[in-house]
Amino acid sequence: MSSWLLKYCNLVLRSAVLTAVFAFASSHSADNKCGSPLVSTCQECLRRGPECAWCFQKSFLDGVHVSKRCDSAAQLRLKGCGEEFIENPEVKVEVNMTLSSSQVTPRDISIQLRPGSEASFIVEVKQLELYPVDLYYLVDVSASMQENLDRLKTVGVNLSHRMKEHSSDFQVGFGSFVDKPVSPYIDVHPSKISNPCSDYEVNCRPAHGFIHVLPITDNMTEFKHVIQQQRISGNMDTPEGGFDAMLQAAVCQKDIGWRPEAKHLLLVMTDQPSHLALDSKLAGIVVPHDGRCHLEEGTYSQSAHMEHPTIGQLAEKLLENSIYSIFAVNSMQYKWYEDLVAFLPGTYLGRLLPKASNLTNLVVDAYKKLLSDVGVEVEVEDSEAHRFWVSVTAVCPNGSTAAGSANCINVQPGQNVFFNITVGMRACPEKDDALQKENEPEVKLVVKPVGFNESMTVRVRQACVCRCGGAGPCHDDPGTSVCESGADPGAKRSLTDSCRDVKTGLMCSGRGTCVCGACVCDRSNLGTIYGRFCEKDDFSCPNERGLMCGGHGQCVSGECSCQPGWTGESCGCPISTESCMSADGLVCSGHGKCVCGECVCDHHRRSGAFCEKCATCSDSCQSHWSCVDCHLSKGLAADNTQQCNRSCTSLVAYVDDITELIRGKYCLYHSREQCVTRFHVDMASHGPQLRISRHAECESSHRYFKTFLSVFLLTVVLGLGILAVVRLLLRGKNWSLRGHVIEQFDDSNKNPSYAPTPSEKTITYRRDCLPEHPMEMHVHVHKMPLDIFP
Ligand SMILES: *[C@@H]1O[C@H](CO)[C@@H](O)[C@H](O)[C@H]1NC(C)=O
Ligand SMILES: *[C@@H]1O[C@H](CO)[C@@H](O)[C@H](O)[C@H]1NC(C)=O
Ligand SMILES: *[C@@H]1O[C@H](CO)[C@@H](O)[C@H](O)[C@H]1NC(C)=O
Ligand SMILES: *[C@@H]1O[C@H](CO)[C@@H](O)[C@H](O)[C@H]1NC(C)=O
Ligand SMILES: *[C@@H]1O[C@H](CO)[C@@H](O)[C@H](O)[C@H]1NC(C)=O
Ligand SMILES: *[C@@H]1O[C@H](CO)[C@@H](O)[C@H](O)[C@H]1NC(C)=O
Ligand SMILES: *[C@@H]1O[C@H](CO)[C@@H](O)[C@H](O)[C@H]1NC(C)=O
Ligand SMILES: *[C@@H]1O[C@H](CO)[C@@H](O)[C@H](O)[C@H]1NC(C)=O
Repeated sequence: MSSWLLKYCNLVLRSAVLTAVFAFASSHSADNKCGSPLVSTCQECLRRGPECAWCFQKSFLDGVHVSKRCDSAAQLRLKGCGEEFIENPEVKVEVNMTLSSSQVTPRDISIQLRPGSEASFIVEVKQLELYPVDLYYLVDVSASMQENLDRLKTVGVNLSHRMKEHSSDFQVGFGSFVDKPVSPYIDVHPSKISNPCSDYEVNCRPAHGFIHVLPITDNMTEFKHVIQQQRISGNMDTPEGGFDAMLQAAVCQKDIGWRPEAKHLLLVMTDQPSHLALDSKLAGIVVPHDGRCHLEEGTYSQSAHMEHPTIGQLAEKLLENSIYSIFAVNSMQYKWYEDLVAFLPGTYLGRLLPKASNLTNLVVDAYKKLLSDVGVEVEVEDSEAHRFWVSVTAVCPNGSTAAGSANCINVQPGQNVFFNITVGMRACPEKDDALQKENEPEVKLVVKPVGFNESMTVRVRQACVCRCGGAGPCHDDPGTSVCESGADPGAKRSLTDSCRDVKTGLMCSGRGTCVCGACVCDRSNLGTIYGRFCEKDDFSCPNERGLMCGGHGQCVSGECSCQPGWTGESCGCPISTESCMSADGLVCSGHGKCVCGECVCDHHRRSGAFCEKCATCSDSCQSHWSCVDCHLSKGLAADNTQQCNRSCTSLVAYVDDITELIRGKYCLYHSREQCVTRFHVDMASHGPQLRISRHAECESSHRYFKTFLSVFLLTVVLGLGILAVVRLLLRGKNWSLRGHVIEQFDDSNKNPSYAPTPSEKTITYRRDCLPEHPMEMHVHVHKMPLDIFP
C-alpha cells in the first residue's frame, strides 16, 4: 500500500467523521424545521432532514403532541429524552477491505445515508505497466470501404508487431457491418438483395447489420486469412448501422471472446456517419433496443426488428464492458464524430487516411492516449437515479484537484489517481411498501473507472425506517419490545386504564387517544395540549398581563394551578403582603387591606399606592389638633416633644413661614385664645410629620384689620358718590368740555358710541391707584372657618 493510499485512507475516515460532525453542528438551529409543519411519525421526521431525530420514549414530555417528538437530537436530550430512545441514524461509511485488487481500491464500500445527507469516500485507481490487449476490428464493408479493406490485410499484422511494445499479449478479432437489411436502407429488388452491387458488375455480399467473423485470437495467420476472404457489400443511404454493431460487439462478451484481464479496444473503421436511434422509424422499426446480445451463428438477428441504440445506451454498454472505442474515420466525417465522442466515455477519434495508410500509428496513439486518461463514471440504477446525486473530484498525480473534474490526463503507467466521491441522498423511496418489506433497502451504485475491467460497488443503506414505528398502535409494531423497553411488560391489560384520569374518569380527558398505555394528545389550533391525561394545555386559562395564568401557574382543565406564593384566578396575586408595606412598616399605612399585592384603602377618600394620601380627610387636620394643641400649650420650646408623646406620636418641627415652605395644603388650628395657627401634615415619609408655624394669627389683629377695611371702603363709596354728582352737574352746564374729553380719548380707537364720561374717567384713574383692592376683599373672606385653605 503506497503512502498516498495510506494518506487517503486517513482522509476517508476523516471525511466520514467530518460529515458526522457537520450533521451534529447543524442540529442546533433545527427546531422549526423538524417539528413543523406537523410530523406524526418517526419516518416523516427522519425525512425532514439529517438534523432531525425522533424520541420514542413513552412518557416523553407528558404526552405532548407527537410532532414535538421530532427535533434535533440535542434538543430532545435537553427535553429529557433518554439517549436510548432517540432514533437518529447516523451517516456512516464502511469500507470492506476483504476484496483486494491491483487496480481499484477499495472494491466494496457501504454507506448509510438519510434523506438530505451526504457522504464522501476516496477511490484509488492505478494504471498497470503492461496489459494484455484485445483489439476488435469492426469494419464498415459498404462498397466505399474496398480500399481500406484491402489494406487491412497488411496493416493488421504490422499493427500487432507494433503493439507488442505496449502490451504483454496482443490479440485481435474481426467483425463487419453495413446497415439494417430492410428498406429504405437497402434496395429490396430481388436481384439486389443477394448482390447489391450487381449494377457495377461487382460480386458483393448481401447487406447485414453485423456479422461477427473472427473471435479474439492471437493466430495472425488466421486473421490474415479471414481478412482475405472479406468481400464488400452495398446499401442505399449514406449513414451506416455502426452503433448497432458496436453495441453487439460490446455486449456479446463470450462470442467476441473479450478476455476479462485485457484492455478492450474496439476499432471502428468507417467512412460514413451512423444511424441514430430514431432513424429506424423510417423503416417501420419501433421496438427500442433492449441492450442485449442477439448473435445467432455470428449474425445479429434483431437487426430488422429493433431500433438502433441511443447514444446513452451505447455509452452505458461500452463502459459496463470496459471497452475503449477508437473511431478511425474518413476525413469527411471527422466533424460528425467529433460531436459524438463527447458523449461516449473512453473514446478516441482519429482521421483515417486513404488506403488506411496511417492506421498503425492511429491505433498505437489511441491506445497510449486512452490509457493515460484515467476517469471514473458512477452508475446509479435508473429507477433510483432521481433520489441520489453524485459528485466526483479527481486528485491527479500532478497534484491538481479541480473540483467537479472526474478525470486526469497524462497519467503514466504505475501512477495512482484518487477520486473523492460524494454521494448524497435527496429523498426516501416514495412507496412505503418497499420499506415495509425490507427494513433498510439497499441501493447499489457502481463506480467504474473508464476502460478498466474492475469496478467498485457502493452499497447505500437508506435510513428511511425507524426501529420504532413512532405513534403507531403498540401491538402491531414488531419493534415493540425494543421501543417500550421502559414499560412494564405485565401492564398490558391495564394499558387503557393508565390513560384514564381517576379524577374525571375520562380517557385522556377526552382530548387525546390512548396509545400503548400513554395518552397522545390531540392537536389543537389554539395551542398545545399536554399532560399525562392531556389535562393540561396552554390556552384555556385566564390570561394575566398577556401570560397564561400570569406566568405563575399551569393550566389544568381550564383552571390555573398556581405556583406556591401565588394565588388568584389567573395566579396574578402574590400571597405575601410585602408589596403593600408602606414605609412606616404598616400594611397600607394602616388604612387599608392588601388585596392581590395592592392596597385597597378602607375609605374612598384615601389614595396612593399605600393609602397614605388623603386629599379631603376632614379628620386629617382635626386628628392632629390635640398634638398641635399640646405643643402650643407647652410653648414652642424644643424639648417639649417628650411631654406631648401621649397625644402626639408625630415628629414635630417649627417653621417660620409655612405658606412659603409648603406650597400644598395646610391645616388651621383654632386655639382657645382665638388665634389661628397653621400647620402641615406630611405623610409621605417615616410617619406623619407636623410642621407648625411659629406665628399664630390672633383675633385682635383680625378685628383691627376688619375695621380698617370698613373705613377704607366707606371712603371709597363716598368718593364715588361725590364724583357722580359733580359729573351730572358738568354734563348739564358745559357741553364743550365733553368734546374735549372725547378728543383726549380719540387716540385709543375706542368705539365712539361708548364715549367715556368724566366719572368713568375717574374710575379708571381710581382703579389704577388701587390695584390691591380686590385682593384685600379676599383677605377678608379668609375669616371664614376653613380647615384647609388653598
Ligand atoms: C471530498 O469532497 C467533499 C465534498 O466536496 C469534501 O467535503 C471532502 O473534504 C473531500 N475529501 C477529501 C479527502 O478531499
Ligand atoms: C465484504 O465483502 C465480502 C464479499 O462481497 C462479503 O462476503 C463480506 O460480508 C463483506 N464484509 C462486510 C463487513 O461487509
Ligand atoms: C509497418 O509500418 C511501418 C510504417 O507504418 C513500416 O515502416 C514498416 O515497415 C511496416 N512493417 C511491416 C512488417 O510491414
Ligand atoms: C492458426 O490458424 C491457421 C488457419 O486457421 C491454422 O492452420 C493454424 O493451426 C493456427 N495456429 C495455431 C497456433 O493455432
Ligand atoms: C483485470 O485486469 C487485471 C490486469 O490485467 C487482472 O490482473 C485482473 O485479474 C482483471 N480482473 C478481472 C476481474 O478480470
Ligand atoms: C496518421 O495518424 C496519426 C495519429 O492519428 C497522426 O499523428 C499522423 O499525423 C497521421 N499521418 C498523416 C500523414 O496524416
Ligand atoms: C495536472 O493534471 C490536470 C489533469 O490531468 C491538468 O488539467 C493540469 O493542468 C495539470 N497541472 C499541472 C500543473 O501539470
Ligand atoms: C417621646 O418621644 C420621643 C421621641 O419620639 C422618645 O424618644 C421618648 O421615649 C418618648 N417618651 C415617651 C414617654 O413615650
